[in-house]
Amino acid sequence: MSKTLNRIEKTYSAVAEVYAEAFFDEHRKKPMDREMLERFVREMGDRQPVWDFGCGPGQTAKFLKDAGQEISGLDLSEELLDQARRLYPDIPFQKGNLLDLDFENASIAGVVAFYAIVHFTRDQVEKAFQEVFRVLKPNGILLFTFHVGGETLHIDTFLGREVDIDFMLFPAAFISQSLKTAGFTLVEIVEREPYPDVEYPSRRAYVFARKPSP
Ligand SMILES: C[S@@+](CC[C@H](N)C(=O)[O-])C[C@H]1O[C@@H](n2cnc3c(N)ncnc32)[C@H](O)[C@@H]1O
Repeated sequence: MSKTLNRIEKTYSAVAEVYAEAFFDEHRKKPMDREMLERFVREMGDRQPVWDFGCGPGQTAKFLKDAGQEISGLDLSEELLDQARRLYPDIPFQKGNLLDLDFENASIAGVVAFYAIVHFTRDQVEKAFQEVFRVLKPNGILLFTFHVGGETLHIDTFLGREVDIDFMLFPAAFISQSLKTAGFTLVEIVEREPYPDVEYPSRRAYVFARKPSP
């Protein structure tokens, strides 16, 4: 596994329990998260299967499940997956790597990935988009979020634990170009200001992209 992926795994192992505590009800505090996730459920209709990639402790999968969406979660961190399974035993969660997905081509109807790319280099973001494009069925939908900007922040304390990881912000133009290069039709990027006193004060973006039918 690459150095970046080792760091990601190590970081989330260190914070898994506190991360689950801090984020389990985050969508309750974030109206635009709810609006976008509800729109995703409407757009998916009864298409299956749907996955949450980089699901962390499972709060987004849980929100979607409560909104009527059958869903499974995938993450790199076994410790976060343990938290997700403990909190939401009725949702299947499994270990996997977004940069090398263990799924057949054109086998998944919809993917959500909230902040799953925040530790990726730009090359890895492009690779992740290629992988999601490969596994999506024609007309499949990807909804993901990222922090808008251009800088890389080095983090050495996270949720009270010592860590050693980079946290990336991306320009919307880079994201939209990378999605198009991977083959996606970009449906929409919706940006918003951070919610004060609720989250890290960075500008946020929600992206809907679609794999065109041949
Ligand atoms: C910022 S957290 C977001 C977690 C959750 N989606 C949320 O919104 O709270 C980034 C997540 O992506 C996962 N992740 C990072 N790289 C990954 C990879 N290559 N494959 C699968 N999951 C990955 C991390 O383990 C972590 O759970």
